[in-house]
Amino acid sequence: MNDTSPRIIASTVRPRLTAEIMEQTGLSEDVLQELVHSFYGKVRRDIVLAPIFEARIKDWPPHLGRMCAFWSSVALMTGRYSGAPVPAHLGLPVKWSHFERWLALFRETAEEVCSPAGATLVVEKAERIARSLHVAIGDVAAKVPTLR
Ligand code: HEM
Repeated sequence: MNDTSPRIIASTVRPRLTAEIMEQTGLSEDVLQELVHSFYGKVRRDIVLAPIFEARIKDWPPHLGRMCAFWSSVALMTGRYSGAPVPAHLGLPVKWSHFERWLALFRETAEEVCSPAGATLVVEKAERIARSLHVAIGDVAAKVPTLR
């Protein structure tokens, strides 16, 4: 393996990129951990979203750990997350209005926990991923066939 192989480039470029993002946004693993824990605390108290999550997640600590790795990868480009978000959302009883509610709580939490630049970054990512998840899983309610 020479010093221009993709693995070598990724292993040297990625830490630099992560450091730049941290410096520009004030985001860090600690801030993202607080974001994730505070956000899912609100989700679990939300009258609409809580029953959907509680029906699927029996053991919260592993889910929160996965979500910290996910946000570390998405916001800080650390590559810590290796999972598949789309299958995890298939079959959930959700419409776009649920994603809007999810995003409203996420925005509120990001503004409380992150710097303005950090909040802008994570909210933009969340909005983009929410739109693509919604398209990928289809709108279950919209797909119920009419009988006549
Ligand atoms: C209406 C909105 C949403 C609902 C109800 C929802 C619900 C869930 C549930 C129940 C799980 C756990 C699935 C399982 O372990 O069986 C999950 C996992 C996950 N969700 Fe969401 N979610 C929503 C929106 C989002 C959005 C907008 C994002 C990203 C910005 C996201 C990212 C993830 C990720 C990364 C996982 C972990 C997948 C894995 O690796 O197992 N979710 N979600």
